[in-house]
Amino acid sequence: MSGGALQQIPPDVANLADFEPHARERMSPEAFAYLNGGAADELTLRANRAAWDAIQLWPRVLRDLSGGHTRIDLLGRRWPVPVALAPIAYQQLAHPEGELASALAAAAQGVGLVLSAQSSVAMDVVARAMASETERGPLWFQLYWRDDPGFMRELLGRVEAAGYEALVLTVDAPVHGARDRERRAGFKLPPQIRAVNLGGLKRPVELQPGQSLLFDGLMPRSATWTQIDWLREHSRLPLLLKGVVHPDDAREAQRRDVAGLVVSNHGGRTLDTLPPTAALLPRLREAVGPELPLLVDGGIRRGTDVLKALALGADAVLLGRPYVHALATAGAHGVAHALRLLRDEFEIAMALSGCRSCDEIGPHLLWRSQE
Ligand code: FNR
Ligand code: LAC
Repeated sequence: MSGGALQQIPPDVANLADFEPHARERMSPEAFAYLNGGAADELTLRANRAAWDAIQLWPRVLRDLSGGHTRIDLLGRRWPVPVALAPIAYQQLAHPEGELASALAAAAQGVGLVLSAQSSVAMDVVARAMASETERGPLWFQLYWRDDPGFMRELLGRVEAAGYEALVLTVDAPVHGARDRERRAGFKLPPQIRAVNLGGLKRPVELQPGQSLLFDGLMPRSATWTQIDWLREHSRLPLLLKGVVHPDDAREAQRRDVAGLVVSNHGGRTLDTLPPTAALLPRLREAVGPELPLLVDGGIRRGTDVLKALALGADAVLLGRPYVHALATAGAHGVAHALRLLRDEFEIAMALSGCRSCDEIGPHLLWRSQE
């Protein structure tokens, strides 16, 4: 760990996107390709951004906004701002302090954190960094299903004991997407960076001649709806599903009493040519009704994107790649700065659209060219 001196924010950084060229300079080309890349032609990756940009706002003026604030109450906790860090694997690729630096910054800025199952820093170290702040956001743990009930039980026990408040099962990535950019760059995880919380190795897949690694090896070990019930029975923590994109799946999840959904296409990294999350979100909100907590991620870069997400029916958003660009640029200081910029932009967007609280953000703020 480097620690010590505060890393400087480059003077040309005015918004989240401005960190990206600095990250590119500081990271190896392979690690940067892993971080920034998406699946195949990266159509979904680009569509996510383009969709937020394409939405126009239709603000109200002259309202009394005194006493305004960005707080929400969701899943049993007060969030200072409706934003959390998306789970991103192996953050030591970006900075030696990795997930610890991200957690310190999130805690200081009142932003929540979803720790990746493939964190390169121990889950209790991250949890302690978050717990040091009283005005912090939520602390959740993302996991993938592993076909080993003993391992899963032990993992759930550790997650709960460390103080995580919810589980986020990622359901859209039973296999790595076809990541052309990553393959061209020849990305391989360096030996010193590991998923330190997952411990023991998976049983090797044994195949008969003619069998498929994917359909005979990996898929029989992946989660199905049965495992959703299993997880609910084996942990007291609320369970959210990340990567549900079809209304029928959303309703099935609701029937199985999940605590919420993260509307996500994995930042365009799994199946390419999915619709952007800004287009999926209102369909899913319509499918599940007004009560079920919905979060959204993919291409959130601006305070106005957060406002648009809430207007389309999300309760909160997850921020992905930009905070890792900030991490690569200036460690914890970089991430804290990025989160402060996003908070400031969101407050400005609320004030300039006439919203005193997140409850007042609704579809009326979205421009419709025909009335
Ligand atoms: C991810 N994402 C991800 N999701 C997850 O559930 N578990 C994980 O370990 C990871 N790891 C990961 C690594 C990297 C390098 C990236 C870029 C993304 C997906 C992530 O949580 C989120 O869905 C997207 O990153 C959101 O899109 P934006 O904000 O990056 O556009
Ligand atoms: C990724 C995996 C770790 O997107 O979820 O790289």
